[in-house]
Amino acid sequence: MILGLFLPTQSGGWSASAAPRSTSWEFDYNAALALRAEELGFDLVFGLSEWVRAGGYGGKIRFREDSIDPFMAVTALAALTKRLLLLSTIHILYGPWHPMHLARFAATADHISKGRFGINVVTGFSPTEPLMFGMRRQEHDLRYEMADEFMSIAKQLWQSEHNFTYEGQFWRLEDAFVRPKPRYGRPILASATGSPAGFSYAARHSDLVFITSPAGANVQRAIEALPAHTAKLKAESQSFGRNIRTIINPMIVCRPTEVEARAYYDEIVRLADMEAAVGYANHFKSGDTKAWTNHVPRERILGGNVHLIGSPEQVADWLIALNKAGCDGMQISFYDFRDDLEFFGKSVLPLLHQAGVR
Ligand SMILES: Cc1cc2nc3c(=O)[nH]c(=O)nc-3n(C[C@H](O)[C@H](O)[C@H](O)COP(=O)(O)O)c2cc1C
Repeated sequence: MILGLFLPTQSGGWSASAAPRSTSWEFDYNAALALRAEELGFDLVFGLSEWVRAGGYGGKIRFREDSIDPFMAVTALAALTKRLLLLSTIHILYGPWHPMHLARFAATADHISKGRFGINVVTGFSPTEPLMFGMRRQEHDLRYEMADEFMSIAKQLWQSEHNFTYEGQFWRLEDAFVRPKPRYGRPILASATGSPAGFSYAARHSDLVFITSPAGANVQRAIEALPAHTAKLKAESQSFGRNIRTIINPMIVCRPTEVEARAYYDEIVRLADMEAAVGYANHFKSGDTKAWTNHVPRERILGGNVHLIGSPEQVADWLIALNKAGCDGMQISFYDFRDDLEFFGKSVLPLLHQAGVR
């Protein structure tokens, strides 16, 4: 089981609640989390990318108004960590962002991290984010065609020992060249999808695919729905002679007993910032994402994808069941990242070791 930590590089992390917690978007906080995750034996850390307007997604907490750039943040983490894979989300279609930029920036991050850098390629589901760049969002499937050409060019640039000239549908290059080359040929490539066009892009380009439960946040329903979902994605990648690995994003609320975990969850919900939760839900509704659509605003208070609320034994059992349902990896989030990661390391990780999945 691949184990990753979702870094809270944005204010409020995943949760639209004012219940007290340490979670912070600041780099030092995220760096301390990454170092602790590395000590605990995690495989990767991940930063999401959003372009959020003044006031964030709303509410008193101004949900996610502060948001540090994940590419720069994980590149800085490259100099601090030794073993973790560092994954950054990048909106490759925003602005005048050319495959040359990505090829050189990623080769540089790969060099600093000694081959531990990866890119989560996203095409931008939001109608408002592209406006910040003076652009309009392109149609859903066309964006994946653009991403396909963009990443095919970037791969050529990482590979080619000669100048490279290319006239594509969306980008052109003349005598282009990038060196140093990434240490292992190219960075790890990831994408996040639930749609046929996204599956088809992932099957051709991605090593890792972030998936969402097609059945919403309830873990039992997720465990039932995921085998067919993950099998379809894996079969599609195999038709291209590739083996994709899938990662899901559980939000973990864990305490020594189920009753205590429920009480912790109830407190998060009691102190919900509903304006922020609804603002965030509306942001998804206004987008054309096919994933996350089965989440209701109440589930957005805690946030994340599948909710695991229970004792260490229950959480470990659910993680193992998700793994058996075809999720090769778990990229986990918490409400109070620092303290909850500590509790997870002390109470849940040993159970995963005992079960032989870690
Ligand atoms: C774990 C995970 C992380 C994601 N991170 C981002 C992100 O940082 N920025 C973003 O614009 N979209 C992000 N997305 C949304 C995806 O880019 C995409 O819109 C979504 O998965 C739906 O894809 P589809 O339309 O191909 O189904 C993320 C999705 C998942 C599952």
